[in-house]
Amino acid sequence: MADILESLMKKKVIVTGGTGYIGSHTAVELITGGFEVVIIDNLYNSDISVLEGIRAITGITPKFYDNDLCDRKRLDEIFTAEGKVDAIIHFAAYKAVGESVRKPLEYYRNNLVSLMNILEMMESHNSHALVFSSSCTVYGQPDTLPVTEASPVREAASPYGYTKQAGEIIIRDTMASRPSHNAVSLRYFNPIGAHPTAFIGELPRGVPENLVPYITQTAIGLREELKVFGTDYDTPDGSCIRDYLHVVDLAKAHVAALKRMLDGGSKANYEVFNLGMGKGVSVLEAIAAFEKVSGVKLNYSITGRRAGDIEKIWADPSLANRELGWMAEITIEEAMETAWRWENKLKNKGS
Ligand code: UFG
Repeated sequence: MADILESLMKKKVIVTGGTGYIGSHTAVELITGGFEVVIIDNLYNSDISVLEGIRAITGITPKFYDNDLCDRKRLDEIFTAEGKVDAIIHFAAYKAVGESVRKPLEYYRNNLVSLMNILEMMESHNSHALVFSSSCTVYGQPDTLPVTEASPVREAASPYGYTKQAGEIIIRDTMASRPSHNAVSLRYFNPIGAHPTAFIGELPRGVPENLVPYITQTAIGLREELKVFGTDYDTPDGSCIRDYLHVVDLAKAHVAALKRMLDGGSKANYEVFNLGMGKGVSVLEAIAAFEKVSGVKLNYSITGRRAGDIEKIWADPSLANRELGWMAEITIEEAMETAWRWENKLKNKGS
């Protein structure tokens, strides 16, 4: 009886893309924070076994719908079946920068139609709060660092980047017409690492595009060597600088943003926050941090610049620190350690 009452009192959050990398870590933080989580994901870039990982950490398997968010009719049925949905966190999207250049229409259709369907569901099913996954990619190469939310949005380097810019604008304009609704766009810097339990982590399909999975896969012997894309940049050691933050810290920011909206704490019905550590780390420093915590000497070589890379960016996260009461705290060394633990876990699972 107490269990039934407790579950009735829980706020229900639909997490699209909830079996993905950031989505799954956020599902864990939501569940441990007392929310009821319902995941919608078409498993395009994730695996159903992630639900097992979430259960292993939290003791709860979230309800799961295998559904493409572009299928509006089916989405409508899901929202009808779920009844009152207090909030939506919308992660589901295609996210490979290079692939988006080759398949622009697929990226625009998938990322924007799914978002517009979600916005329509909010209206027709009376769900009033939305968190959107955006990216620091919207800033391009800023003139001044660190970047604040007031820094100008620059021309994107890829269709993927434009889907994030357009997504933000679609939400902003939709919220302007719906005073009783709330939304936030969270501009992520570079999320890395895995859950400290190693029950969930990043599962890149094929050859990883991102630095940290490439480092750990090289260290474990799946890749021959890491190529460092350029050491001729105008940075202290010549390699690119990014703001790496741990995925669990990032996940916690979603819970903080959601609670603030649901508790009526928003200062406007559409807000934007940078989510980063506020610290720039070079590619060579990231490699050194990995080598230090793993004890593995990484096989890497320096090669030419990667097309579309920006030289340096890091966040001013003070707005999120102040308004969300959130701060990224996990160091790059700890993050590398969790990424390494996860890579080893995957290896042991596979063998
Ligand atoms: N890098 C290498 N070798 C590799 C992979 C990456 O040297 O094999 C370097 C990159 O050149 C870059 C840094 O490591 O300097 C980080 O690269 P990632 O690919 O990990 O991350 P990006 O900053 O390029 O991209 C991330 C997200 C994108 C998002 C972008 C916004 O993955 O989704 O930030 O800037 F669009």
